Amino acid sequence: MQKINIFDTTLRDGEQSAGVNLNLHEKLEIAKQLERLNVDVIEAGFPASSEGDFQSVKQIADMIKGCSVTGLARSTKSDIDAAWEALKGGAEPRLHTFIATSPIHMTYKLKQSPDQVIASAVESVKYASKFFPIIQWSAEDASRSDLAFLTKIIKEVIDAGARVINIPDTVGYGTPEEYGKIFTYLQENVPNIDKVILSAHCHDDLGMAVSNSLAAIEHGVLQIEGTINGIGERAGNASLEEVAVALHIRQDYYKAKTRLRLGEIKRTSDLVSKLTGMIIPPNKAIIGKNAFAHESGIHQDGVLKEKTTYEIISPELVGVKSNSMVLGKHSGRHAFRNRIIELGYTLEDEEVNRIFKLFKTLADKKKEITDDDLLTLLVDEKVTS
Ligand code: KIV
Ligand code: ZN
Repeated sequence: MQKINIFDTTLRDGEQSAGVNLNLHEKLEIAKQLERLNVDVIEAGFPASSEGDFQSVKQIADMIKGCSVTGLARSTKSDIDAAWEALKGGAEPRLHTFIATSPIHMTYKLKQSPDQVIASAVESVKYASKFFPIIQWSAEDASRSDLAFLTKIIKEVIDAGARVINIPDTVGYGTPEEYGKIFTYLQENVPNIDKVILSAHCHDDLGMAVSNSLAAIEHGVLQIEGTINGIGERAGNASLEEVAVALHIRQDYYKAKTRLRLGEIKRTSDLVSKLTGMIIPPNKAIIGKNAFAHESGIHQDGVLKEKTTYEIISPELVGVKSNSMVLGKHSGRHAFRNRIIELGYTLEDEEVNRIFKLFKTLADKKKEITDDDLLTLLVDEKVTS
């Protein structure tokens, strides 16, 4: 089974979500939980971006010993110096440096020629290798870059000392097939590619971040970058919990797994949601409130008979206590009777039928029938427990 490294950027790209600002204490709390979750790398921030970010990267690097801590730097000496100052106390200091490689970014944002971009990337990697034992280099907007140019610059930065090469789909533009093929192309065309680990970093603008990350794995990538709950710039990053659970549940297909303690997923997700204030949509895969909730009668009946009829993931696997049967207008007699029993009532068949009819009438008027609604019904109908 192939091991996939998980690079968590909740505290860097995730914190770039509009409206999110984590203080030092909150960042330390999330970093500790990420260590418990057993991610391989924590990207703790962007040290040159502010004094606050510098301090949090430094304190996280000094505190976390169970995994590698990294910080982001542009291709400048001052950014790399700030990153080294922040990270040097860490168990395994690693630099994450990047420069944009797409024609759009080079022309309009950097205002540099392709040759200038190569020179800048090589110089920064060479400079960083004086301090850092591990350097990750990212080609920002790689998925909209020219493949021949990517091949050239990647060869040069590997020669300069980069040991992880990240190919971001910065604007969430790639499709799984296209994105996967970039990795195959690079493996076939960059002569020194076997010296490095390839990494995927996907954004969710078209809702394909997780699919693109999984496609990258099928094309030989050994590191996946993303965030908890998929938070991040614009529509966010790949949800790490989705990637990890997809690999676990479909081991037969991907033949790859992460080292994550999957049972820590729910706790990590809740903490990130609470501290960032970013509410998790109820239908979000793995961690949403409804991810293990069954509402329709047919599904409830199936799950009550045998869970695997409609549950491909057991809630316990990801740290959720149990599934739930939500009583609503689509619910059937089986789940209804079960809930009545759970509430302490033993009803004859005839009584169940009578109360079930009243329940259905009420359910047509309400989105969800709570235990209190049921108890009121039973009391009104003078049913005794
Ligand atoms: O999306 C992106 O390109 C990034 C880089 C800085 C790696 O976050
Ligand atoms: Zn990003």
